[in-house]
Amino acid sequence: MVSRVIPVDDFDLVIFGATGDLAHRKILPGLFRRFTAGQIPASSQIIGAARTDQDDDAFRAEAAKAIREYAGAAEDDPQLAEFLALLGYVPIDAKGEGGWQELKSRMRPGAVHAFYFSVAPSLFGDIAERLAGHGIADDDSRIVVEKPFGRDLASARALNATLAQHFTEQQIYRIDHYLGKETVQNLMAVRFANVLFEPLWNAQYVDHVQITVAETVGVAGRGSYYDKSGAIRDMVQNHMMQLLCLIAMEPPYHFDPDAVRDEKLKVIRALEPLEPADIVRGQYQGEGSDYLTDAGDADSRTESYVAMKVRISNWRWQGTPFYLRTGKKLRARTSEIAITFKEPPHSIFDDSGHPKANELVIRLQPNEGMNLKVMIKEPGPGGMRLVQVPLDMSFADALGPEGADMPDAYERLIMDVIRGNQTLFMRGDEVEAAWAWTDPIIKSWEEGKRRPEPYDSGSSGPEEALRLMHRDNRRWREIRA
Ligand code: BG6
Repeated sequence: MVSRVIPVDDFDLVIFGATGDLAHRKILPGLFRRFTAGQIPASSQIIGAARTDQDDDAFRAEAAKAIREYAGAAEDDPQLAEFLALLGYVPIDAKGEGGWQELKSRMRPGAVHAFYFSVAPSLFGDIAERLAGHGIADDDSRIVVEKPFGRDLASARALNATLAQHFTEQQIYRIDHYLGKETVQNLMAVRFANVLFEPLWNAQYVDHVQITVAETVGVAGRGSYYDKSGAIRDMVQNHMMQLLCLIAMEPPYHFDPDAVRDEKLKVIRALEPLEPADIVRGQYQGEGSDYLTDAGDADSRTESYVAMKVRISNWRWQGTPFYLRTGKKLRARTSEIAITFKEPPHSIFDDSGHPKANELVIRLQPNEGMNLKVMIKEPGPGGMRLVQVPLDMSFADALGPEGADMPDAYERLIMDVIRGNQTLFMRGDEVEAAWAWTDPIIKSWEEGKRRPEPYDSGSSGPEEALRLMHRDNRRWREIRA
């Protein structure tokens, strides 16, 4: 199977924070891969902008190092040299006037203009103001902003208001990199391009849904950021919420930015407030792998794990709980969504026990694929014995080498910015609605002062999380790669 690459229009992309970690690990390597795939016109410009005082060549050398490290480019890769020729650099003072005229002089009329804010949110307002004030950005320019988009509803509103002073909603691309993952987009294809699942996709047939994003990494090295966020701000308010929306939303009338985002917003607004009994917070502990040490605060009450039972108050989902869990330092890195259907209402096979419920598991990473558990007759004589077997499909096997070679989320998202397609980006009201739901949870934790439950590094999370499920006579799926 050959992937179709449709080149984007000629563009000037300015990366604010170009010397930072995200630019090195994701943005520059992602752009390089899109260039080698033939998607980026050779006339395009990628301009790094940051505080460091350096020239174009120094930035090219820095970018080359990052691309070799993170995109695996060979030392003498001729395409790397061609790509580096697209790069330039302007030292810029985000809070002052230095560098802005120089940046303006580099922008070419007629090209698509995009500005990537890969900087702390506290600088969003300064940069937006200067881009507009110096006439660098115009009505067609796009800005890309990274998460965290606020740390509560009030700060997210304030950020939206700041950006809205200079840019329209159609110009603002709020990144949630989970939406750029191929398999996350696949959730929409599975649901809305097949007739098989949708008739069963509701409370009448679905017993419950489990969404798991388990990581093996801890927070060492980024403890000071993470300790102010915790799993709920870092993962639930954004990535997990997006997964929940894609699973729970109604079919949009069209695969169109506002049609998709309207439906996601309806899901977020239909979320019932969480009861304290429906949430478990955890903190990893263990010799040489301890949250409190990694966070640099022996008294931290920030959670590195959260599990919750979420209810959606609408016709489709009334009575079907969604169980969400995410955490660091768990036993395996795995992200999956499991839809457990209801048991058949009646068994005609008296001697073989009750048939088990069907289960559809969509594996997002690693080993992307789908697995549907169905009941069949156990082979052999001697009556009708039933056995549950998996219909297992790995996308890599089904699609061949091209299927295994999935572009990184950032590659897809940056190309969508240039194309002017906002479908996979969060709208301002969506982000605010997600904070409106998470804020009371965070507030009750802060007021309650209860410590998160400890769990051993390398385990499946705190015992309490098991009880959250047992209480409902259900079990978490095993966390395994
Ligand atoms: C980031 C979080 O947004 O997503 C990290 O800040 C987390 O804490 C990461 O590790 C997970 O992303 P991925 O793509 O590795 O699943």
